[in-house]
Amino acid sequence: MAPYAKTGGLADVIGALPAYLGQAGHDVRVVLPLYDKVDTSKIVLEAVGDFNVPLGAHAYAVRVFKKTGNSPTVYFVHCPELYARGRLYTSDNDEHRRFLALSYVALFICQRFEFAPDIIHAHDWQAALVPLLVKTLFAKDPLFRRTRTLLTIHNLMYQGSFPVEYGADTNLDRYSDLFHQDLMKQGRINFLLQGVLYADGVSTVSPTYAKEIQTAALGGGLDGLLRARSSTVVGILNGVDYDEWSPETDRFIPHRYSASNLSGKEHDKQHLLAQLGLPYKSGVPVLGIVSRLVGQKGFSLLARTMPDLLRRLGFQLVVLGSGEPALEQMFASLQRAFPRQVCFYQGFKNDLAHLIEAGADMFVMPSVYEPCGLNQLYSLRYGTVPIVHRTGGLADTVQTFSPSTGRGTGFAFEHHDEAGLRWAIQAALATYRQPAQWSQIVQNGMAADFSWQTQGRLYELVYKRLASS
Ligand code: ADP
Ligand code: GLC
Repeated sequence: MAPYAKTGGLADVIGALPAYLGQAGHDVRVVLPLYDKVDTSKIVLEAVGDFNVPLGAHAYAVRVFKKTGNSPTVYFVHCPELYARGRLYTSDNDEHRRFLALSYVALFICQRFEFAPDIIHAHDWQAALVPLLVKTLFAKDPLFRRTRTLLTIHNLMYQGSFPVEYGADTNLDRYSDLFHQDLMKQGRINFLLQGVLYADGVSTVSPTYAKEIQTAALGGGLDGLLRARSSTVVGILNGVDYDEWSPETDRFIPHRYSASNLSGKEHDKQHLLAQLGLPYKSGVPVLGIVSRLVGQKGFSLLARTMPDLLRRLGFQLVVLGSGEPALEQMFASLQRAFPRQVCFYQGFKNDLAHLIEAGADMFVMPSVYEPCGLNQLYSLRYGTVPIVHRTGGLADTVQTFSPSTGRGTGFAFEHHDEAGLRWAIQAALATYRQPAQWSQIVQNGMAADFSWQTQGRLYELVYKRLASS
C-alpha cells in the first residue's frame, strides 16, 4: 500500500482505491503487514490488540497497530518474525505462513472490533484463502453471515503454489476435500486457485486481461477454472491517483506544466538529463523506462534492437529499475556502449520515477503480458507518449496514433517480437519529427481520464451486486 510499502502497481491501487471508497462514504479498513520497510517515523501508530495466530504446528504472537489520522483505517500487522525480511516477498519456506497469518489476522480484527464487513476484498494469492476461511472456519460466526468476498487478481503468474504438506499450516485439514483434489494428488496446493474456486466474485485489472486469463496462453494453468466461473470474472481497469501523478502538482518535479502550457516539460527534460549525467540537445527525443526488471516486462526484445536503433536514430534512453541480473546487465552494457545516449539507474527510486514520467518524451513498455500497467497511464497524463505491446491493460489504454484521423495516444505493436518493437519505436520517432502531429498525440493522451472517481464506481457496482447475491 503506497506510500507505506511498494514493489509495483498493487501498492498504488491499494493507496488509492480505499481512499476513494472512504470518500464515497464506505467504512473501509485495510490490513497489511508491518514490513520492516515501512517507514514508521512518518506515521502515528496506536497498538489496538494482541493476537495469537496458530498455523498448524506453528504459532505467532502478533500485535496490531492502527494508523491514526485520515481515512481509510489501516491496520498494520506487527510480527517481526514474519515481516522483517528486508523485502516484501521472499522465497523462504514459510512464505505461505507469512500471508496465512495476515489472512487470519484480518478476520480476527473483524471479530475483535465487531466489524461485520459486507465485502472482503482480497488481493492476489497472498489473501486468496480468505474466501475459503470465511466459508469454513468462520462460517459459524454470525458476524460474517452477510459477508461476500471479491478476489482481485493483479497478476495470474504469481499463484502461491506450495507442496501439499504445507496444507496443515492452513488449519483447514478438516476441509481438505475443499482443496483441488487432482492437484493434491500431484503433491501441490495452490492459494490463488482456491481463491478462484471460493471467492463470490473474481476480478482482474483490465477487461482485456480478464479475457486473456481465460485462455491457455495466459491462463497459467487456471484458465479452465476461470472459464468455468466466467460469469463472475470481471475486468476493471486500475485508476490513477491524480493527486500523486499529475504534472500540474507533482512535488517531485522541478517544473510543473499542463496541457495548455508544456514549457515546463522541456525544462524537466533538461533537469532529468543533467541529473543522470547525459547531455541535452534540443530536438533529441528521450525514451523512458521505469520498471521491475522481470521476464513479464518483455525487455529481452531490447537486447538486439536497441544498439542498432540508438546508432541509427540518435535518441536517448533513461532506465530506472532493478530485478533479474541478466536484465540489469543488459541495460548496464547498453549504457557502457552508448555513454552519451543511455543511462541506467539501478534501484527503486520514487522521485526519479516521477521525473522520468515528466522529462521523457516517450515511455517504453514492451510487456509480454500486462494485467493493467500503471506507468502508461501516468505517461499519458504527463504528455509522455507510450510505446507498448498490445496486451492486457496496455491494449485497453493505448491506441495507435493515426495521422489521418488525428486520433490515438501512443504506439502499440501487435506481435511480441523484435520487428514489432522496431516498428513502434520508428513510428514514434517519425511522428516526433512532425511537430503538429506530435502535439496532437500529446494532447490526446493528456486529455484521457483514468481517475478513481470512474474506476472506483465500477468496484462499487461489483460490491453491490455481490452484497445482494
Ligand atoms: P507492476 O505492478 O507489474 O510492477 P505497474 O505498471 O502496474 O507494474 O506498476 C509499477 C509501479 O511501480 C509504478 O508506480 C512505477 O512507477 C513503480 N516502479 C517500478 N519500478 C520502480 C523503480 N525502480 N523505482 C521507482 N518506482 C518504480
Ligand atoms: C500487477 C501487474 C500490473 C498491474 C498491477 C496493479 O503488478 O503486473 O499490470 O498494474 O498489478 O494492479
